[in-house]
Amino acid sequence: MQGRALRVRWEFKLRAAETIPFKAYQAAADFLREKLPFLPKIALVLGSGLGDFTKKAECATVLPYTEIPGFPHSSAPSHAGVLVCGRIQGVPALIFSGRFHLYEGYTPRQAAFYVRALKLLGVKTLILTNAAGGVNAGFSTGELMVITDHIKFADISPARGKHEPEFGERFFDMSEVYSQELRETALECAKELGIPLRQGVYFYMPGPEYETPAEIRAIRLLGGDAVGMSTVPEAVAAAQCGIRLLGISVITNMAAGILPERLSGNEVIGAAAEATGRFTALLQAIICCIQQ
Ligand code: HPA
Repeated sequence: MQGRALRVRWEFKLRAAETIPFKAYQAAADFLREKLPFLPKIALVLGSGLGDFTKKAECATVLPYTEIPGFPHSSAPSHAGVLVCGRIQGVPALIFSGRFHLYEGYTPRQAAFYVRALKLLGVKTLILTNAAGGVNAGFSTGELMVITDHIKFADISPARGKHEPEFGERFFDMSEVYSQELRETALECAKELGIPLRQGVYFYMPGPEYETPAEIRAIRLLGGDAVGMSTVPEAVAAAQCGIRLLGISVITNMAAGILPERLSGNEVIGAAAEATGRFTALLQAIICCIQQ
């Protein structure tokens, strides 16, 4: 009997986590509408070790996630957990420094909570950035990659659970999650700046452990060019909401088994920090181009 009670309680908890009430998204959007000095059409999410980009925001208003209703807390290393609203070379932008990962214990819906709040705020374009392991043997540590598509075989989707029509259809198209137009803009900006920019498929792995060398060989066979533990829950939510998406990965390490080295979280953060100059220049250029 005790076992059954425990199971029922546990199942209830799981269902509750899958079902975030619509009014929670509304509360977050209303709060942001009230607190932000202006409502940008472009939002940007900074991945592991990439938080320095917020220094480029002029006239910035900074809101800790802990103050925003419904926002989960960001516990991942080097994820500041603040929302910065400012101008990037004059262009209004919302910058999320830190995101929510499934390996922190969040559900896909919690990880993508902010994307749905952005939809209610009228944000039209989202740029997701991340640190990723290079699977394509032609890549090198420190390079940047524009995400052409993703592969998610993990049993996760922020769209699972109660359907909220305000965030799109129940069954939705995934044939161009990462906007071709934005990818072309990114490639043009990189060319102009002389920054090498790879293109490739991002393979989602839930982590927090890095992959085994056998997993990486399998990922390569399946068509993955880079591997990482973020971005995809939010990308799926953006696709459902009809938000135009661009994804940029910083290759912070070669994935497990490619080089005769062990992987470490510190190495990932360090490599992301080293790529900051190129990453910042490219993102600034992209944001200015998108605005035109
Ligand atoms: N695997 C998964 N996630 C990552 C990696 C990796 O090698 N590097 C940075 N994030």
